[in-house]
Amino acid sequence: MRILLTGTSGQVGGALLPYLSERFDVLAPRRDQFDLTVPERLPSELDRLRPDLIVNPAAFTSVERAEDEPELALVVNAEAPRAMARWAARHDVPLVHFSTDYVFDGSGETPWREDDACNPLSAYGRSKWEGERAVQASGASHLIIRTSWVYAAAGNDFLRTIIRQAKEQDELRVVADQFGAPTSAASIGRSVSAIIAQHPSPRELSASFARAGGVVHLANSGSTSRHGFASSIVEGLRARGQAIKARRVRATTTSEYPSRVRRPANSRLDLTRPREVFGVVTPSWQEALASELDLLGGGE
Ligand SMILES: NC(=O)c1ccc[n+]([C@@H]2O[C@H](COP(=O)([O-])OP(=O)(O)OC[C@H]3O[C@@H](n4cnc5c(N)ncnc54)[C@H](OP(=O)(O)O)[C@@H]3O)[C@@H](O)[C@H]2O)c1
Repeated sequence: MRILLTGTSGQVGGALLPYLSERFDVLAPRRDQFDLTVPERLPSELDRLRPDLIVNPAAFTSVERAEDEPELALVVNAEAPRAMARWAARHDVPLVHFSTDYVFDGSGETPWREDDACNPLSAYGRSKWEGERAVQASGASHLIIRTSWVYAAAGNDFLRTIIRQAKEQDELRVVADQFGAPTSAASIGRSVSAIIAQHPSPRELSASFARAGGVVHLANSGSTSRHGFASSIVEGLRARGQAIKARRVRATTTSEYPSRVRRPANSRLDLTRPREVFGVVTPSWQEALASELDLLGGGE
């Protein structure tokens, strides 16, 4: 199977690349070769590449910048997936597309199920939801994978920010009223490649995608607050003998940080469907964090 994998310079695409390359012929064009800001060029690129499966983690992921550039976020997160999905429908090629907890409004405390109503609060969330709807409307066989709070040892994200602050500051201040599952890109890479590898052909893959209703939630199991995640990072660094200046991680509230971006307070994702349909059980967020911190070693 020839797989077109986008976004390999990013966290999820970068994590998927080694797993998928072990078993499949992976095409991983650079951004300048497969540019999602120019959706009208994608069909001819796809004609040239002729994949049997498209896996699309590439996205406009800066939630702050999306508030300033909502049109560009829509092009990359909705119009480009629409173009890919229409091509996929015409050529009977299945599409795996990534989405986010930000399609939900974060109300309540129970984990979101795949069929719960979407009501995004931010420009980023709206662009990702629009992308989901474009993929669903295309007629292509698809699996939309919603995940949450992604980080990677090699990334430039919440994990890195907390590590830097823990080394430079006496006290960290982190919000304790947003809940979700921190999810390592490596866990996503392993689970998604296992889902793909279970199926000997694109046809079987399409049948499973249909059984999943075209949408699945995938995250590390369990949940915590941003503050709980930051505290575990700091404790984990200390346990690994890293030089930490921070003596305290203070719990704050979202309202103390005026922001143009409204983030969901409840980002917990229900993980029943990936277990039932694909037999995928992800490690807990604590286990995944321990693995990532081990990878960092003493090299910070
Ligand atoms: N990060 C999170 O916390 C999170 C949470 C939930 C869901 N998700 C979803 O998970 C998926 C993967 O996220 P991630 O964390 O891996 O994102 P990421 O690390 O920010 O990587 C995004 C990737 O998309 C590429 N890209 C951006 N604009 C592009 C364009 N115009 N044309 C081609 N490629 C472009 C980037 O390339 P460059 O390196 O060239 O910019 C990069 O490889 C996304 O769909 C995201 O919405 C992420």
